[in-house]
Amino acid sequence: MNPAARDLRRFAPALIRWQLESGRHGLPWQGTRDPYRVWLSEIMLQQTQVAAVIGYYDRFLQRFPDVRSLAAASADEVMALWSGLGYYSRARNLYRCAQQVGDAHGGEFPARAAELEQLPGIGASTAAAIAAFCHGERISIADGNVRRVLSRLLAFDGDLSASGPQREMWDLAQSLLPTSPSPEDMVAYTQGLMDLGSGVCTRTRPACEKCPVSDLCAAKLQGTTERYPVKTRKVARRHESWWLLVLRRRLAGGSGQVWLERRPAKGIWAGLFCVPVLADEAAAFVAAGVQPAAAQALPAVAHALTHRELRLHPLLVDVPPGKAWQASAEGQWVAFDRLADFGLPTPVRALLEHLPD
Ligand code: ADE
Repeated sequence: MNPAARDLRRFAPALIRWQLESGRHGLPWQGTRDPYRVWLSEIMLQQTQVAAVIGYYDRFLQRFPDVRSLAAASADEVMALWSGLGYYSRARNLYRCAQQVGDAHGGEFPARAAELEQLPGIGASTAAAIAAFCHGERISIADGNVRRVLSRLLAFDGDLSASGPQREMWDLAQSLLPTSPSPEDMVAYTQGLMDLGSGVCTRTRPACEKCPVSDLCAAKLQGTTERYPVKTRKVARRHESWWLLVLRRRLAGGSGQVWLERRPAKGIWAGLFCVPVLADEAAAFVAAGVQPAAAQALPAVAHALTHRELRLHPLLVDVPPGKAWQASAEGQWVAFDRLADFGLPTPVRALLEHLPD
């Protein structure tokens, strides 16, 4: 193609037209300018797929229809409603943010991205999304999906695992924004970038034949889409084994309880409820106060976190009802049919819901 014809001023209008005609509409957080609803959706959608978020989003809004009701809740209730969505620091920050909006901003989210970014859990891209969706601010989102889309569009060779090139990419993203001051254009443009990143310009095998801007895409024109985004630094995941001590107490009438402790305030699964975690099997037997024969080893489960690859080894011990068990003071017996009220890590909830008889 003649390079002069690759006029990037056509990018925003083409993306907007495509979003309006072929993009996603009718998601539960679309069609509103309520910053609370948009903020909640954007936090939930960080690192989490739309399909997984929808049910949580609806339940959360039913229980907490506005930022005041969320700020007035207990942290435990917020964690319980979040339980299963993962990346729990999001829920802790969500709650802190709601309280700050109540205390420091009179219950109203600030309008500008620069101010939103000062709040807990709101990074630059989330701040931009909220400001663009709710107020039409001319500011670009730049999450991982968008960086991938734009790095292909521009054949951007900077290393996006480094902060300098990230900043450079954000400046380029700003230069591509629609020139019209219309808030509706900013909404369609921002949603268009998201829709393109998640449904068309995917990490592997992008669907260039469906792309509304493929004629502007430098990587497509060069046949090098798979080279972008350039990232040299990979996330290193450490491997660890954890023993999960499932202490079960059966009660008359067939019901039962499990021993749960609160996880420390920092680190993996911080603040959630969990069965006791031990670093090795011998320590688990000591903690349970039983001989190895009294414990049932259940199948190990792999669980990947951002920086850790966990191998979970559950050990089930049935504690006789009459026997006093030397539990640590911080834990509690919880009935199996009350587990929904507790914020539990996803693999622990799955384990407790499928214990053998
Ligand atoms: N991912 C992040 N924000 C989103 C949004 N508003 N709609 C769909 N997917 C998203």
